[in-house]
Order: sequence, then C-alpha cells, then structure tokens
Amino acid sequence: MTAKVIDGKAFAANVRAQVAEHVARLKEENGLTPGLAVVLVGEDPASKVYVKNKHASTIEVGMASFEHRLEANTSEAELLALIDQLNADPAVHGILVQLPLPGHLNSELVINRIAPAKDVDGFHISNVGLLGTGQKSMVPCTPLGCLMMLRDHHGKLAGLNAVVVGRSNIVGKPMAQLLLGDSCTVTIAHSRTKDLAEVCKRADILVAAVGRPEMITGDMVKPGATVIDVGINRIERDGKARLVGDVHYDSAAAVAGAITPVPGGVGPMTIACLLANTLTACCRANGLAEPEGLTA
Ligand code: GUN
Repeated sequence: MTAKVIDGKAFAANVRAQVAEHVARLKEENGLTPGLAVVLVGEDPASKVYVKNKHASTIEVGMASFEHRLEANTSEAELLALIDQLNADPAVHGILVQLPLPGHLNSELVINRIAPAKDVDGFHISNVGLLGTGQKSMVPCTPLGCLMMLRDHHGKLAGLNAVVVGRSNIVGKPMAQLLLGDSCTVTIAHSRTKDLAEVCKRADILVAAVGRPEMITGDMVKPGATVIDVGINRIERDGKARLVGDVHYDSAAAVAGAITPVPGGVGPMTIACLLANTLTACCRANGLAEPEGLTA
C-alpha cells in the first residue's frame, strides 16, 4: 500500500480562509476585530522567525496583531505587568507568550498569569484542567490541528485505537485528551515504553510527537493506519542540512493508509489553529456563537 499524503499546507490554507471569512463577518455584523498579542522576550533566532510568521498570518486574516518585543534581561515583574495590561485590554482577545523564555523567567508563573479566556496556546493550568475533564477550553494549537486533519480523513474517530508517542504538555498529553474526547481508545507511549514497536503496531491512528528523528519506522506501523508526524528535527545527511519528522517517512508511507509529510504536514496547521483559537476567544468574549469546525 502507498499511503495517501495528508496535505497540511493546503489544509491550513483552508482553515485560514475560513477564519478570514468569519473575521470579515464579525467586522461587518458586529463591529469587532479579533486581536492577538504576541510577547517575545529576548533574541532567540527561531522564536523571532515564529513571531514574524505569526504577525504576518494574523494580519492576512484581517485580525489586529499586537507585537511586544522585550529585552532578554526583562524582569519577571515587568513581564507580568505587561500580561496584566493585555488581560485588561478589550482589543486583545488572544495572548501568546513565545516559549522558551530566558532562563531567569519562570514560564509556569508567566503562562498562568494569562487570563484563561485569552490563553490561545491552551497552556494555562485552567485550560489543561478543563480539557482533561471534557469541558470547554482553549486547546493547544498543534494537537488541535492534528485532530482537525484526523476528523477530516476519518469522519468519526469513535472506537479507533490511537497511540500517541510522546508525553509533552504541549502535544502528547493534550493530543491524548482530544482523541479520548472523540471516543478513541488511547495509549500514551514514549521513548521508554517497552515493546514500542508492538504498541505502535496496534494503532489505527499513530501520532508521533517524541522529538527523535525518524524513530518510528515502517515495521512499527499497522497496515492502513493513519500516521500523524508532529516531529520537526533538523539533521545533517550526506553533508546537507535536512528537516525530518519523528517518522521514517519512506518506510512508513509504504505501509500506512495515510500520512502527514515533514515539512508540509502538521507544521502549517499550528499557526492556522492559533488564528482559529483567537477567533474562538473573540466570539466567546462577546457572547457570540463559536465558529463551526474550528474548535475541538
Ligand atoms: N514555541 C514554539 N512553539 C510554541 C507554541 O506553540 N507556543 C508558544 N507560546 N511558544 C512556542
């Protein structure tokens, strides 16, 4: 079998177009412009690229973008004061503090200072608890993007065996909660799971989010399974820099029913879902119906 390639770039473009349409309607019918504030502390080069892309995508869908770039030596008190100010600002519906933060800042304290209703990353402890108890929450962007692609490919997910390889707070754990919410039978595996190949091979849905280049090989994939590769790993091969996932693409694609490539799979969905979450936050803040198909 040669797997169907799930085109995350096209899927994300479609999500962004849906968001843009909703934003235009909110402006026209309600006089509202959803606003996203992004806070970057320091000069981490990868973070600067992410923040630049977020700003451009936010503007592109017609939202307001508020960028706050702070010096690397910004104190915790200064950062918390900025978050308090954004929490109180009615033009700001979503707040994202770019991670990682410089070492002298306590990320948990900072993230938990964001008003849960504006926490478009879904990292605040209240949102984690709401998701874990099946209540309405803000959902982390990358797992939300994976869920959207899985629902689109499968229709209903109920009863399917899902294995999530990786237990991070940002991807693995919320992904497992979302799949459970859609009535999958969920296993969370990780780098220290015994007989990982055998565990993975039971999966109708296999999500790889372990952060190890090409760790999941074709012999670990059930024939016909859907493989979602969250990994983005920079490696060098044959003297060239390459971007590879956590899945060994060629061997897995020969066995799977469907697979996301790297790049062009899950990656583009993250920013698309950040915009979707900002739209959702704006609708909720104003007592309006949430956009259909763009939430968990
Ligand atoms: N750094 C890398 N990815 C992310 C993300 O999704 N959210 C935040 N806040 N920081 C990140």
